Amino acid sequence: MLTAIPDVLTADEVARIRAIIDAAEWVDGNATSGPQAALAKRNEQLPEGSAAAREAGTLVLTAIQRSPLFIAAALPAKVYPPLFNRYGDGQGFGTHVDNAIRQLRGTDFRIRTDLSATLFLEDPENYDGGELTIEGTFGTQTVKLPAGHMIVYPSTSLHHVTPVTRGARVAAFFWLQSMVRDDGKRTLLFQLDTAIQRLTSERGGADTSVVELTGVYHNLLRRWADA
Ligand code: NI
Repeated sequence: MLTAIPDVLTADEVARIRAIIDAAEWVDGNATSGPQAALAKRNEQLPEGSAAAREAGTLVLTAIQRSPLFIAAALPAKVYPPLFNRYGDGQGFGTHVDNAIRQLRGTDFRIRTDLSATLFLEDPENYDGGELTIEGTFGTQTVKLPAGHMIVYPSTSLHHVTPVTRGARVAAFFWLQSMVRDDGKRTLLFQLDTAIQRLTSERGGADTSVVELTGVYHNLLRRWADA
């Protein structure tokens, strides 16, 4: 399931993050790639664990945790500290799949990447190209969102970033391990949750059907989730 999450960051927060990262030193993006991705990747990245990446990353983590849509869709168990990339003129990232396991260097923090997320930090009118293109079972989806908006997609998908032909594409990206590993089960839970939320607003939380369906949601979550 592909989920667009609008307004993860306010305009002020985007500006604050951009002020932090734009002033920092960027390095070749292949610092975090596996050998296959390195062949296809042409971009710049903030060094993992740098002061700027940590400070801006904390702002991103705070923002995603207050998004009910993100929590409902991703059911996050562990989130990898956000990284930041920049694609200048002529840069892009060819078709690849993200590594299944991510270990934070120098620590024992390790996640299975169930979901990949891109949080856009530049408005689409300021650059051409730079579309995130995701191959899924229903065909190929092209994603280019306003600054402050985020896309979450299964890490199992082949995806690429088309070359930038004007301006620069700046984004935060991260991976997460979900409490529900299987994308199909996670999608069903999200659909059920969405319907319950709507029913709750129409009928109130004390409505018998709302109470029963909420029970079904939690009992499915109990069966399928690793907390
Ligand atoms: Ni990727």
